[in-house]
Amino acid sequence: TPVSLDRRFQDWIDAERKIEPRDWMPEAYRRTLIRQISQHAHSEIIGMQPEGNWITRAPSLRRKVALIAKVQDEAGHGLYLYSAAETLGASRDDMVADLLSGKAKYSSIFNYPTPSWADIGAIGWLVDGAAICNQVPLCRTSYGPYARAMVRVCKEESFHQRQGYEIMMALAQGTPEQKQMAQEALNRWWIPSLLMFGPPDDQSPNSAQSMKWKIKRHSNDDLRQRFVDMTVPQAEFLGLTLPDPDLKWNEERGHYDFGALPWDEFQAVLKGHGPCNRQRMAFRNKTFADGAWVREAASAYAEKQKARQAA
Ligand code: ACO
Repeated sequence: TPVSLDRRFQDWIDAERKIEPRDWMPEAYRRTLIRQISQHAHSEIIGMQPEGNWITRAPSLRRKVALIAKVQDEAGHGLYLYSAAETLGASRDDMVADLLSGKAKYSSIFNYPTPSWADIGAIGWLVDGAAICNQVPLCRTSYGPYARAMVRVCKEESFHQRQGYEIMMALAQGTPEQKQMAQEALNRWWIPSLLMFGPPDDQSPNSAQSMKWKIKRHSNDDLRQRFVDMTVPQAEFLGLTLPDPDLKWNEERGHYDFGALPWDEFQAVLKGHGPCNRQRMAFRNKTFADGAWVREAASAYAEKQKARQAA
């Protein structure tokens, strides 16, 4: 009966075994994974835009090479993740269509602008640092193809994070104006990076079940705290100030306390009202339309190959 299947499934997961594409799984497990993996993929694809914005204006050839490599990695992560979602029976065309129509979610963080070069440093340091915090535990997520994809993704994210921190270091040790640029970028990205971990645990509708199924290995709040604890000394090393007057070490908890977060802003960004939501979606749609000839050419080529093989 389905009840005993559910039970065996949970026992399997509790024993830290992986679920593979051909294994039986509850429909809700499949749907949850498709939701999370496709949102993750969309985030990587949209995440190319804020930084792509600076490729032509990178301050040196070395910086430009590193930035191009990073943005290209993100495209790779997106494709990798779409493939992982496909192993669950999701259709790539449907996922792409949902992104283009605005139906699908992608990470709130990519709806913020990058007005200066220092934002590229701040994104690498903070956003990729947050991504690592969130994604290293996903290397142990219960669904095999997702877990394995995360291993490579995390290695690349760690290069991205160092790339960003090194930019911040150069600016922080530069002229007073450069240090100021770094501080302003940090001020812009700190709160959005904390929001990126998702709603507080008591307002996170998916967490309980996803933790039980070991899709998520830590709660949103735990990961957020881990990120704060990790980042405070890094900011101190740079000689920059985190923009939160309530941030302070709590000896009793063994963690940093931090101020209340603007969850109304988070909700607004999710509803499409962040500073760059429209721009991101318009650009993604335009790029997709501009790429139509590539898809047509690839299909025509595939047809020709098929015809040739048949002959
Ligand atoms: N931006 C946009 N939407 C978010 C965000 C965010 N930062 N955080 C949570 N949400 C959405 C969830 O997708 C969910 O929406 P849905 O139910 O309509 O799908 C809703 O808010 C409620 O949140 P939760 O119940 O906490 O959702 P979930 O359990 O999926 O946790 C989380 C969210 C932590 C982002 C999880 O999906 C996850 O770990 N995903 C994998 C990592 C990832 O996608 N990272 C993207 C950015 S990293 C990068 O690309 C560099």
